[in-house]
Amino acid sequence: MISTLLRQLTHGVYVIGVCDESSVNAFTASWLMQVSFNPVMVALSINPQHRSWSILEQGKVFSINVLKDDQLDLAIHFGLPGTAKLESVDWRPGEVSKAPVLETTIAYCECVVETHIESGDHRLVTARVVNGKVLDETASPLLYQSAAHLDGSHALFPEKFER
Ligand SMILES: Cc1cc2nc3c(=O)[nH]c(=O)nc-3n(C[C@H](O)[C@H](O)[C@H](O)COP(=O)(O)O)c2cc1C
Repeated sequence: MISTLLRQLTHGVYVIGVCDESSVNAFTASWLMQVSFNPVMVALSINPQHRSWSILEQGKVFSINVLKDDQLDLAIHFGLPGTAKLESVDWRPGEVSKAPVLETTIAYCECVVETHIESGDHRLVTARVVNGKVLDETASPLLYQSAAHLDGSHALFPEKFER
């Protein structure tokens, strides 16, 4: 099956915080990678149907909160749609971007959006990393393999590849 094949690609699990002038939100993401050393840049793939997308598009900033291997509960919490997900979790605005930062994770980065393009059914966002900190040097990161059953992606893959 295509989903079984694609899950062999390794990813972490992150809580992506977004904000604009009037709203904040956060969602779980795994499709994130570093794409440049200097300047330090990352790419994030986001479904434009998520509530977080319009906030990210408007605010042009996001945070990356790196989950620990025992933080599956946070991956579940932020992996669901909802308008009040941040209300039950401790967070603060990032120093530079004001995007939500969770203090209990392994590390966080703050990012400023440079480009976004359509990428199939997602938007591919590139962003400069403008701040960040390691919060716990001893913890191990949560891997997508341990959380992939939560994202409903099994049903989203096509039966076969498009050539
Ligand atoms: C483990 C896991 C990984 C996910 N990875 C992504 C991702 O990389 N990109 C994305 O757009 N959604 C991803 N999702 C789905 C969103 O987290 C989910 O649809 C969420 O409800 C969106 O929240 P929002 O509508 O409040 O923005 C993932 C979900 C889980 C549980």
